[in-house]
Amino acid sequence: MTDATTGENGSGAPLPIPLPRFATARTRSGSAFPPGPRARYPGQFLVEVARNPLAMMIAMAAEHGDIAHFRVGPQHLYLINHPDLIRDVLVTGQKNFHKSRGLERAKRLLGDGLLTSEGDFHLRQRRLAQPAFHRARIASYGATMTDYSSQLQSSWEDRSTVDVHQQMMRLTLGIVSKTLFDADVDGEASEIGDALTTAFESFNLAMLPFTEYLDKLPIPAARRFNAARARLDGTIYRMIDERRRIGGDRGDLLSMLLTATDSEGDGRGMDDTQLRDEALTIFLAGHETTANALTWTWYLLSQNPAVEARLHAEIDAAVPGRMPEFDDLPALPYTRMVLAESMRLYPPAWAIGRRAISAFELRGYTVPKKSVVLMSQYIMHRDPRYFPDPERFDPERWTPEAQALRPKFSYFPFGGGTRVCIGEQFAWMEGILLIASIAQNWRLRLAPAHRVEVQPLITLRPRYGMMMSLERRAKG
Ligand code: HEM
Repeated sequence: MTDATTGENGSGAPLPIPLPRFATARTRSGSAFPPGPRARYPGQFLVEVARNPLAMMIAMAAEHGDIAHFRVGPQHLYLINHPDLIRDVLVTGQKNFHKSRGLERAKRLLGDGLLTSEGDFHLRQRRLAQPAFHRARIASYGATMTDYSSQLQSSWEDRSTVDVHQQMMRLTLGIVSKTLFDADVDGEASEIGDALTTAFESFNLAMLPFTEYLDKLPIPAARRFNAARARLDGTIYRMIDERRRIGGDRGDLLSMLLTATDSEGDGRGMDDTQLRDEALTIFLAGHETTANALTWTWYLLSQNPAVEARLHAEIDAAVPGRMPEFDDLPALPYTRMVLAESMRLYPPAWAIGRRAISAFELRGYTVPKKSVVLMSQYIMHRDPRYFPDPERFDPERWTPEAQALRPKFSYFPFGGGTRVCIGEQFAWMEGILLIASIAQNWRLRLAPAHRVEVQPLITLRPRYGMMMSLERRAKG
């Protein structure tokens, strides 16, 4: 039972998300806008966004269904919560939208990388970066992923308790550093690891509302952020410079990005600033997301022993007594289903926003230019129309037959359209190989009374980390 007063959570069930209350919506017939919540006091929406943007969206969707409209000052916002509407914005009407302002703020750290750029420039960068994510290239990273997994496991002690979220962050940061820069963050290039961690920590803060001017203020977080960004830039530019002088393919993503030329466009490659922006973007986008997906997977497995037993049986049969590798992926379908179901309940990217660059029709309403359209994976993925008994962790939802019965955008952990995650295949492979390589040796158990609560920052983190005890599996 969840004890709401202390937050103690002995059952292992996640703490409920307290939802805000809004004033009852006025539904005037013939209104140009769909119904939506009204603030109970001036500034309530801003307060709720700062407090918990996910809770605010859940409350709106529960009250207003597929489409809700609200205003913050002159800004019109829409929350859409139907697969067809999500497809209309992310795919069919994608030319009509840019990223929303939140990500524009991310430019302070990421410059004009893939996540933050727009229009023709974005398309060109995407063409240049795409080969680095082709299947054959990604396949070559499989061994790095399992090597890092073994290294981590060799530091684990039976029956010890660790913060699994921290462990997964360390693991995926190590992997993205090695595959991107051929750099070992725990060793020679630990300065990258330190600077990255500091920059990302203060970056999370910088993404919150009202912090536009953060790096102009003489406060410690701003100073730390600026110092970390300067250190990171120094290291990245030095690496780019070395690569340019020495040349050759080191087998990493940076080598691919350095040699890529835009054959469909101007025939040229990326300059140093573009390389820096893309490298940092991939660093940021490519480790915390996967670490969160894995952390929530360990948590869900600990709460669902029957699923865990079936997972163990698949892994033990597919890769008996050896590390899994890229070619084993087809023999691990249930592991993939477990990961898919975990990203349904805890999607690492929990919401996406778009800004209309011109007026747009949505469900018979005209969405004015400059409106922001929000959609949340967390909410859509728990919609009982597509996922009956939505809170239940059930990997069987991911058999090909069950999947075929659902519309595509009822599930969109990697987004969609031209801005779909470029690292999607990388992430599936990394997720499956890391789950298989760890679950073949360990069973992870939630520490008694550990509080489990979602924290919707840029990605969906466990607010108090994930303290779990490591139990070495007995091999028969
Ligand atoms: C479970 C892991 C991951 C999840 C859930 C995830 C999710 C997403 C989502 C939802 C977007 C689209 C955002 C939007 O439309 O506004 C995105 C974009 C992106 N992701 Fe991922 N991602 C993951 C892993 C990765 C990895 C491993 C990499 C790189 C190694 C990566 C690199 C990127 C980049 C560069 C973009 C921007 C693409 C563009 O706009 O052209 N992601 N990701």
